[in-house]
Amino acid sequence: MNLGVYAVGTGNHVSGWRFPGAAKSSEEFAIFKTIADSCERGKLDFLFVGDSLAFVPEQHPGQMLRFEPLTLHAALATQTSRVGLVATASTTYSAPFNIARAFASLDKLSGGRAGWNVVTTGLKEAAGNFGMAAPMDHATRYESATEFVEVVQGLWDSWEEGAITTNVETGEYFDKTKVHSLDHVGEFYSVRGPLNVTRTPQGQPVLVQAGASDDGKNFASRFAEMIFASQLDKEHAKEFYATMKAKVAEAGRNPDHCKILPGFMPIVGRNEEDARKKLSELMRLAVPEVALKMMSSRFGHDLSGYDLDGPVPDLPLSNDIQTHAKVAFAKARKDNLTLRDIYNQVAVARGYLFACGDAATVADVMEEWFADRACDGFVLVPPYFPAAFDEFIDQVVPELQRRGIFRTEYSGFTLREHLGLPVPANRYSERTP
Ligand SMILES: Cc1cc2nc3c(=O)[nH]c(=O)nc-3n(C[C@H](O)[C@H](O)[C@H](O)COP(=O)(O)O)c2cc1C
Repeated sequence: MNLGVYAVGTGNHVSGWRFPGAAKSSEEFAIFKTIADSCERGKLDFLFVGDSLAFVPEQHPGQMLRFEPLTLHAALATQTSRVGLVATASTTYSAPFNIARAFASLDKLSGGRAGWNVVTTGLKEAAGNFGMAAPMDHATRYESATEFVEVVQGLWDSWEEGAITTNVETGEYFDKTKVHSLDHVGEFYSVRGPLNVTRTPQGQPVLVQAGASDDGKNFASRFAEMIFASQLDKEHAKEFYATMKAKVAEAGRNPDHCKILPGFMPIVGRNEEDARKKLSELMRLAVPEVALKMMSSRFGHDLSGYDLDGPVPDLPLSNDIQTHAKVAFAKARKDNLTLRDIYNQVAVARGYLFACGDAATVADVMEEWFADRACDGFVLVPPYFPAAFDEFIDQVVPELQRRGIFRTEYSGFTLREHLGLPVPANRYSERTP
């Protein structure tokens, strides 16, 4: 299976940072370096850094304040040698040329380990930071994101392999026939090109995507090489997995070249009782108002007026993120859950799947989902760092290795090699006889 970690200095549990010994900031390089070292010790595929473009007081502490992801990864690239570096960047509030250039640079700086988590940013607080009164509507965000990614991919192909000749004798630095302008004029963007960075070690950085609304799924089927999924129920995850693999095939791509990895929170103890004790302590430390606000932001609606012991209300999907609400509503309907059940799930794992127990119990859940084709692996969302992640690396990873479902050594260097993804052909080289 493929495994990565969603790195948040303050941990992914709503009260993770309050746990004894836990890191308390997402603005310290040292904690990210520690997480990256653990990734490489455990032979993980990637370290994933999410992002937000506004300070929102009711957000999870790890989302309120954080490093800009590409800047962080540029620093991590110098301190690591194998782990993939996935950074989140927004299509709504960036220019394609900047994004193409920044990720191409990271791919070169890291020796082929860059991945881009493409997000459209529906967060209403972000609009005001970019001179807009309100976010673009959901459908338009995905339409412009589609054109944005087409342009970025076009720019990444600007330079064919071998374009740099550095002929000291003749003074020819590059072969003009192997450099191509894009001359794109579309509905949302006009970009001339070529990019001022040559072809990168991976050909193109890996494209990652996380939205699972209908528009999000269409977008993913065209572009995503890895989907960061959010699933709470194995049967729903199997449906999502089968649907997405079929949609990828319909889009003319190989379904094996789109890895589907749900978020997963492991709470690992020496035994069941020890793990349960950790979970109870985390829940004891959770501030109810904060957890409630977090649940409201996950759903895109203020839920403070609803009875926690009543049914999950039937609410329309919001303009921001639809995925988490869809997944939680479906699970609530299937298992007849109350709002409190969902609250507990969101407070614990921000709405992702979680397992609590000894290493074998946690590995059992992962193996079952993997074997039943509910996923190709997981994005780990540890409740706090570094201890909870290290317990996973040092206890659960060896268990997965013993079962033969996770690598014992890296067999490649690039993120594409870790994920079993091909290097995309350069569109211009393909045409050359
Ligand atoms: C699991 C998951 C992780 C996400 N991480 C981020 C993130 O770090 N930053 C961000 O701006 N948006 C993030 N998003 C938002 C999506 O990328 C997408 O823009 C948003 O979900 C709207 O699409 P949807 O309605 O299809 O869910 C995430 C969404 C999901 C489901």
